[in-house]
Amino acid sequence: MTLDHPQLVKSLRLAYSAEKAAAFAYIGHAGSVKSQEEKAAIKQIEDDEWGHRETVLTILEQYDIPISRYYEVKYHVIGKIISISCYVIGWFMPYYFAGRLESGNVCEYFVMMHYFNDLGITEHDAALYEMGMKEKEHEIYFQKSLETNRLLPLFEKIFGWGKESSYNDIDLENRYSLEASKAYCRKEKR
Ligand SMILES: [Fe+2]
Ligand SMILES: [Fe+2]
Repeated sequence: MTLDHPQLVKSLRLAYSAEKAAAFAYIGHAGSVKSQEEKAAIKQIEDDEWGHRETVLTILEQYDIPISRYYEVKYHVIGKIISISCYVIGWFMPYYFAGRLESGNVCEYFVMMHYFNDLGITEHDAALYEMGMKEKEHEIYFQKSLETNRLLPLFEKIFGWGKESSYNDIDLENRYSLEASKAYCRKEKR
């Protein structure tokens, strides 16, 4: 079965490669922090991203969608650059920009769910829900780590993400069920 939805196909191929960039970035991030507790937490996030890549790959294969060689190279380079930069930009910025990025990633998976549902396909709902929720957990980890940092209010003002602002409408403490989660990220759907 082929997937007649160019935007969804693009999103899946992009997510596959971007998950690799994220995993690479977290390798550098974990390597650059001193606290063993932080290292372990970031390593867990890295493992989650590799897991997401695997899950997205099974979906791509199911519909015979080829991996994008262009995205693979592009996100390989981006991931490696971020990974190395973690060693030179201090503690705050990798935490901040990881949190900001994760915030944006949450809806990617819920929007994919909407696209699949538009095609009448619901079999990936659970996997996409789990991945979206996991990205939310990642966002919250970074947000909590930063919340008392004195730089956060300034960065929040400039870059639009922080303690009060998020790029998604998910409240982890009152998370919706899989069925109700179809209401998430409606604004983000293009
Ligand atoms: Fe991910
Ligand atoms: Fe993530």
